[in-house]
Amino acid sequence: MASRKNLVADRTALAHKARYALTHPQRIPGHLRRAGRDRWLAFKHRDHVSYYRAIMASDTRRSPDAAVGSPNRAEWLRLGQLQFDYLRSHGLKPSVRMLDIGCGNLRAGWRFISYLEQGNYYGIDISPDVLIAAKRTLTERDLQAKLPHLTLTQDLTLDFLPDAHFDVVHAHSVFSHSPLDVIEECLAHVGRVLAPGGFFDFTFDRTVGTEHQVLREDFYYRTETLTGLAERHGLNARFMDDWELLGHGQSKIRVTAEPATSSDSVAASPSVQV
Ligand SMILES: C[S@@+](CC[C@H](N)C(=O)[O-])C[C@H]1O[C@@H](n2cnc3c(N)ncnc32)[C@H](O)[C@@H]1O
Repeated sequence: MASRKNLVADRTALAHKARYALTHPQRIPGHLRRAGRDRWLAFKHRDHVSYYRAIMASDTRRSPDAAVGSPNRAEWLRLGQLQFDYLRSHGLKPSVRMLDIGCGNLRAGWRFISYLEQGNYYGIDISPDVLIAAKRTLTERDLQAKLPHLTLTQDLTLDFLPDAHFDVVHAHSVFSHSPLDVIEECLAHVGRVLAPGGFFDFTFDRTVGTEHQVLREDFYYRTETLTGLAERHGLNARFMDDWELLGHGQSKIRVTAEPATSSDSVAASPSVQV
């Protein structure tokens, strides 16, 4: 499948904006509406988490599926399946204990909950609105007996979770909406909650050019910025090449707390790419 990534664009550059407007004129009114709303929300909410929570409240009111990035139910189902199939192909087993950071309305979460043993799924999110939508998904899928945890959080210190507990920590399309200090907070603390041999997978919007952000909603990072940050917190980080083959718009990094060995369950990948 062809990649949908544009790795070189600086979306804040005037030339890029002009080119984009000329080639996608139908998107201009929607973008202007979004920019106006975001400016107002940024004025009301100075810290990023409060700002993004307000965005999620506004987007979830319209459509929870669209709020997590899927324009329709078919896409919502497809994106959830993609995440589930990827982790299954990387050794996910029903006995695994999983922490899903930014679980949204359980686009992938319901599949993990259904597959994992009772109580082994722990979803956290900053948005009460999307967590209410998550409970609706749980009910629609008849997954009450699986007793998943769904918890509201204000930060990513993970301080309410036990040491060495989770085999898999997962954050899909969360750091693509996060400034570096939020990502760093997570990387500073995730090692404590990872079980021996566990890993933390996260996706990000990748650029090979200038790092930039759009409306404080979408953040574009170079791979080495994030792998370097993980390493500064004593973690090992590797770029997941096999994820690139799936045609998703974001890239994926895997972080572990121990030195990588050849017996890793992960398929070997070459050194970090840009
Ligand atoms: C694009 S959605 C993806 C949801 C889910 N991971 C999925 O793939 O369906 C991003 C989610 O991350 C949540 N989020 C954003 N920043 C967060 C943070 N710092 N901590 C926890 N959740 C966050 C948002 O509220 C939203 O539900």
